[in-house]
Amino acid sequence: MGKSKITVVGAGNVGATTAHIAATRKLGEIVLIDIVEGLAEGKALDMAEASPIYDTSQSVLGTTDWAATAGSDVVIVTSGVPRKPGMSRDDLLATNARIVKSVSEKIAEHSPHAIVVVVCNPLDAMVHVAAKTLGFPKQRILGMAGALDSARFCTFLAAELNVCVEDVKCVLMGGHGDDMVPLPRFTSASGIPISQFLSVAKIDELVERTRKGGIEIVNLLGYSAYHAPGAGAVKMAEAILTDSRHIISCCAYCDREYQAGGYFVGVPAVLGRRGIERIVELNLDAAEKAQFAESLAHVKALVAKVDALL
Ligand code: NAI
Ligand code: 2OP
Repeated sequence: MGKSKITVVGAGNVGATTAHIAATRKLGEIVLIDIVEGLAEGKALDMAEASPIYDTSQSVLGTTDWAATAGSDVVIVTSGVPRKPGMSRDDLLATNARIVKSVSEKIAEHSPHAIVVVVCNPLDAMVHVAAKTLGFPKQRILGMAGALDSARFCTFLAAELNVCVEDVKCVLMGGHGDDMVPLPRFTSASGIPISQFLSVAKIDELVERTRKGGIEIVNLLGYSAYHAPGAGAVKMAEAILTDSRHIISCCAYCDREYQAGGYFVGVPAVLGRRGIERIVELNLDAAEKAQFAESLAHVKALVAKVDALL
């Protein structure tokens, strides 16, 4: 698999962490690019200096030159401002839309066949901006949020149940906001529905903690999360490059699916070498449908706002 090429745009907290995790997973040639002179170069050198200690790293090229990214198979876009305490993801809309647009122009020029995974917030609207600018088939444009949000839900559940975290599997849908839709009915520990272990009230509490998982970290750190987001982005890149066909909740283009009407929004999807191989359509009950509709309405409103800006 060593022949794949991955570009990570933005060498900040999420980007550098993503590049380092991708290197340790030996996913292929990795290019880390930033606009700040020396930043990607310095972080790449630091990663290189870790490889004699842990023989798991492979080299990461740090650069400000888009030519070095040419012909990437996967491009992960983390270039954008993160939120601070008191801010919502939506407050980042105008600044990050401009960054995502300019970066997408570069991606289209240098890696026209890439599969693009957007991480910047507000996530679903930024995937829309990338798609509009890139003009790629929609199957090749994805957003990372569900991988992170479902990992958070699984983490909280495993701690509550005192079971191995790898046994806990869940599905989560909707936009990457406080109205995201974790789905307890589709959540289990080694195939045992969580309703067998936990009361409705306890499940509701953990759902609410998941919805607020981003701000919980922002309030602790003063800036936003990056270890789990980096792991989520690499999980998606790995599924694509290895054609693993893992089902991962991610922001994908939905038209007739879930009656979304042509929006990028979080849904479970099969990932493989063509990007989104298939969207998995769950038979949602009335309450789940209503929650998804509310979250989708929020995504639509943000998309309308960003379209008016650009
Ligand atoms: P950061 O501030 O640490 O890093 C952002 C980097 O992007 C900086 O190094 C900056 O110089 C670079 N950058 C800005 N404009 C650029 C351009 N035109 N070309 C190349 N590089 C450029 O921010 P952090 O914490 O890494 O977060 C990045 C983004 O990811 C934020 O928008 C944040 O909200 C989002 N995020 C999304 C998550 C998700 O689940 N979807 C999870 C965590 C963060
Ligand atoms: C998170 O959920 C900031 O969106 C980011 O941690």
